[in-house]
Amino acid sequence: MRVLANQVYSQVPIHSEYGGVVPEIAARAHLEKIDPIVRLALDEAGLTLDGVDQIAFTRGPGLLGPLLVGASFARALGRSIGKPVVGVNHLEGHLASAFLQDPALEPPFLCLVVSGGHTEFVQVDPGLAYTVIGKTRDDAAGEAFDKCGKVLGLGYPAGPILAQLAASGKRDFVPLPRALDQRDNFEFSFSGLKTAMLRYVESKPAEFIRNNLSHICASVESAIVDILVKKSINALFDTKMQTITVVGGVSANGYLRIRMEAEAKKRGFRALFPAPLYCGDNGAMIAAIGQWRANHGLVQSEVGVTPSLRWH
Ligand code: KG4
Ligand code: ZN
Repeated sequence: MRVLANQVYSQVPIHSEYGGVVPEIAARAHLEKIDPIVRLALDEAGLTLDGVDQIAFTRGPGLLGPLLVGASFARALGRSIGKPVVGVNHLEGHLASAFLQDPALEPPFLCLVVSGGHTEFVQVDPGLAYTVIGKTRDDAAGEAFDKCGKVLGLGYPAGPILAQLAASGKRDFVPLPRALDQRDNFEFSFSGLKTAMLRYVESKPAEFIRNNLSHICASVESAIVDILVKKSINALFDTKMQTITVVGGVSANGYLRIRMEAEAKKRGFRALFPAPLYCGDNGAMIAAIGQWRANHGLVQSEVGVTPSLRWH
């Protein structure tokens, strides 16, 4: 599997003004950009539509408006060129970003999805059979980064900004909670962290927060990364898997990558991360899962939009 083009039109600058995604604006931006972005991708790949064998699109989960735009466009395009159209799950797309990194990767393996909307462990068995073995009870890890960053007055999304500030900070500056820390618990809870952060910020003068921003960011990043790494190692032992793939926007986090790789290696496990380019939402991962399914005879005929959490 080889990526010929990966064009991403980020809506972050549009939504950051509102401090979060505005569904109506997202749907309109999808409608405006989908045609030009597909043209740009074809240009980058040096292809015309004749060279396309299959079209994959995101079926869900997500916001219904943008999903409908993608589904309608993909279906119309597929019909016009007489090629199959495959609807795939967004999380399965993130999972496939690991196949882009290592095309020889085959199930079984464990996958940790850490994005803005999801934080879950998925056991991936041959035939792409998925078993969710644990997920967050409240906020996702990306949401925890974003909400703590918002409390600290960082922009949106705060995750990457907070990570950058954390690089030079003291990691034990603020004592912060690590929830559900038991060995055999594969669920997460990040809402307590956000509340603890809010209390901490309210209890200190603004100048103190400003002067110690990098230390506070490093403490938040460690609280999130510690629990992700610890539970991942326990889940590897528990499921008897050899490999964990870590995917989704938060997998771009440098500290998470270093810590996870080191702790896994120490115990004889393998931790596999996608290239940073394929960690956040992107089209290549959606094409990749469509291709992987086709290669393994697992293509579905269903092309509807389902904003559900079903894993396939
Ligand atoms: O997968 P993604 O692009 O979109 C969703 O499907 O949610 O993930 C976006 C999330 C945001 O919460 C963002 O703050 C977080 O990923 N993120 C990071 C980093 N880069 C993106 N969090 C921590 N460190 C980063 N370097
Ligand atoms: Zn995503």
